[in-house]
Amino acid sequence: EKNPLGIIGLGVMGRNLGLNLIDHGYKISGYDRDNSKVRALKEESQGVASSFDSLEEFVHSLESPKKILFFVPAGQPVDQVIQELLPLLKEGDILIDGGNSFYQDTERRQKQLKDKKIFFIGMGTSGGESGARHGPSLMVGGDREAYEILKPMLEAISAKADGEPCVDYMGRGSAGHYVKMVHNGIEYGIMELIAECYDFAHKVLQWNEKQISDLFEQWSKEELSGYLIEITVPILRKKDDKTDDLLLNKVLDVARQLGTGAWTSEEALKLQIPTPTIDAAVVMRNLSSRVEERKEFNNQFDTHSSPPVLEPTVHQSIAQELKKALFLGIICTYAQGFSLLREASKNYEFGIELEKVAKIWRGGCIIRSKFLEKSRMAFSKNPNLSNLLLDPSISQEIKENNLVSSLRKFCSLSLSSELPIYAFLSTLSYFDGFRCGRLPANLIQLQRDYFGSHTYERVDSQGIFHTVWE
Ligand code: 6PG
Repeated sequence: EKNPLGIIGLGVMGRNLGLNLIDHGYKISGYDRDNSKVRALKEESQGVASSFDSLEEFVHSLESPKKILFFVPAGQPVDQVIQELLPLLKEGDILIDGGNSFYQDTERRQKQLKDKKIFFIGMGTSGGESGARHGPSLMVGGDREAYEILKPMLEAISAKADGEPCVDYMGRGSAGHYVKMVHNGIEYGIMELIAECYDFAHKVLQWNEKQISDLFEQWSKEELSGYLIEITVPILRKKDDKTDDLLLNKVLDVARQLGTGAWTSEEALKLQIPTPTIDAAVVMRNLSSRVEERKEFNNQFDTHSSPPVLEPTVHQSIAQELKKALFLGIICTYAQGFSLLREASKNYEFGIELEKVAKIWRGGCIIRSKFLEKSRMAFSKNPNLSNLLLDPSISQEIKENNLVSSLRKFCSLSLSSELPIYAFLSTLSYFDGFRCGRLPANLIQLQRDYFGSHTYERVDSQGIFHTVWE
């Protein structure tokens, strides 16, 4: 008897997704170069998973068309897996890359396999270890025909939000990996905003981690509710095993990255879509890693003026402003991500429907939150919405709750306290930039015309103009 799906790469993601499939009644085959991982899967699945030490036997154990999902590190390892599999595959077989591959690599691999009539599916997989085990969000791109074959299996194992599976066909080519890349960009943005919030509560309000975690816990039950806010609560409370201090105080303040956030910003620059909150998050991770320079700067410029003294009586009301500022920050981060997706879909002809993206992000993934249901509704009302902030009910919510003035107050308080709040500041300028009516770009146009005869357009007549400068 042959199995309906094989998994290559039995690290945490591959193994957990395999166990998830078994829970849903699918018999799977597993393969990994590391024999101990092969054995671990066999044991953990109590023998249900057939796992193999040889790739030939592994492929042979699968029913046709062969469906092979792999979770190997992005880049060269993916090409290597494909090379090794190729001689063992036939027309109509389906390869699924579940990792965080760069979308252009996915396009290249799809072209390479097209001649051999082998399907190559790029599948963004979000939700980390526990998502893979109990229900991830799956962003699938490539040939629709292949997706239809995989659909029942993927729907069974994915997370569910309001009863709907958090998996869907995102679009042609590398659409699945592209959507996952933008997901990660949004993930970076929200994480940086939360970190800046924490920094404010810690350094300006001088609250301890217990108080701050209580605050986040409260927020996670309100409109701000979302996975990243939720997990911050136990993180802030976690004690270090070795000392009696908090773990947080023992961790080096350097934020590492695998690259997907920076790819999002690079793409946004390329397609000329403003995504400043995401960019700021990438920049602040980069800044955090400049350890030596930071030390030197700290010695040279450690001239903190005294921060404004905030009486404890106003702390609660400031915490309210903080919450609203964070909410607007998060809304703007989603808005930036979706507008990038909209442009990319047009530009690369992916055919992405933003409503579907919002729908499958509501559960299972790292950026899942209550606000995504509002986003889904916005795109369902208007599939062509160019920016979430233009949705009447979202903009109404921003106005009714005075989110902008809270963001502004939070920014000015932080600035006078010398706090680095790049993500919040760039969010505020994003917002102000969009709504101010007239930007100083007219001056830039004339400078361009002055030094390079680049011409300009006028507000009072059609056409292209040039001035002969003295
Ligand atoms: C997910 C995550 C995951 C990603 C990590 C690490 O959706 O489950 O996005 O895919 O690998 O978040 O990313 P960085 O190392 O770049 O922070």
